[in-house]
Amino acid sequence: MMKIDLVTQAAQRIASLKGHFVHHERFVPLAEGFSILAEKRLVDIQSGRTSEAQGLALSGHSGAGKSAAITHLLAMESQRLAEHGHGDTTIVSLRVPSPATLKFVGQMLLRALGYPIGADRHAWYIWDLVQHHLRERRVLFVHLDEAQDLASRGTKHELDSVTSMLKTLMTDPEWPVGIILSGTNELEDILNHDYQLARRMKTVRFESLSPAAYGDEILDLLDSYCERAGLEPEDDVLELSHGERVVHAAANQFGIAIVLILDAIEDAYLQGQKTLNRHNFIRSYYRRTSCDAEFNPFVVPDFMRIDARQVFSRENRT
Ligand SMILES: Nc1ncnc2c1ncn2[C@@H]1O[C@H](COP(=O)(O)OP(=O)(O)OP(=O)(O)O)[C@@H](O)[C@H]1O
Ligand SMILES: [Mg+2]
Repeated sequence: MMKIDLVTQAAQRIASLKGHFVHHERFVPLAEGFSILAEKRLVDIQSGRTSEAQGLALSGHSGAGKSAAITHLLAMESQRLAEHGHGDTTIVSLRVPSPATLKFVGQMLLRALGYPIGADRHAWYIWDLVQHHLRERRVLFVHLDEAQDLASRGTKHELDSVTSMLKTLMTDPEWPVGIILSGTNELEDILNHDYQLARRMKTVRFESLSPAAYGDEILDLLDSYCERAGLEPEDDVLELSHGERVVHAAANQFGIAIVLILDAIEDAYLQGQKTLNRHNFIRSYYRRTSCDAEFNPFVVPDFMRIDARQVFSRENRT
């Protein structure tokens, strides 16, 4: 087979593997917390009552799998809503824009609602429209990803006005909207500075994995990905220490561990292999980071000393 066929085929097979969502145990509290919120809101709508909507905040380090989890959750919920005769309701998801001023956040939200508007309007006008369209489109939830960015740019004053607007949306007497925030751990600081917002939120944190506690579990994950991928895992990737290496190389983040496994599988495809071995991990880690072998956690025995968030590490920098 020509090399180019191998590349195309690998890309197709990896794309299909990427489409698979892993239901890790950490997903359970998130999904449960969310379905309770959704149910309460639907009961209120059906009975013609309104009470304040509640929200959900998900925090975790970069690569923990927050965006992937919320995207999956919202897709499942949309489908469930449609199946239960609530196909007219909507869930809106967007990334917090930069700079996260009151006006710009409102503008982006309007755009996500399908009503782009020029920047020459006052913030109050934009948010008036936002509230109007949230009602019109029967929006149950608004999800803001990278919510820590609400605090990173702009002044404290802007942060206060955005959070108070979010509270306004949740407490709207006519059509309250649940707010879902996901972001890195600085999101926790935002909530800790605004108790009125925090008390209306359920919180979930995706903890980092420790190599000692999760090495085993990551091996199970690797095994199941190999099965899906149609590759036989060799003994060297089924050793407990290999599981620990994957966790460490992933900077202890669940999502990155999956990405590392998929990268290694891709390498095996590109080599035309029928099995997966440690060399696939070594090569794909190098491709990802351009780090010398001394800084490759799949090579060195004392891999715990390596800072897995560094790229381009060299023994002798010249
Ligand atoms: N449950 C999962 N099943 C399958 N793949 C996953 C899962 N969780 C994460 N991933 C993979 O890990 C990658 C990183 O996850 P994600 O983008 O969700 O991290 P994040 O926590 O949002 O990070 P950041 O804070 O940098 O945005 C995703 O692109 C996805 O491919
Ligand atoms: Mg993300």
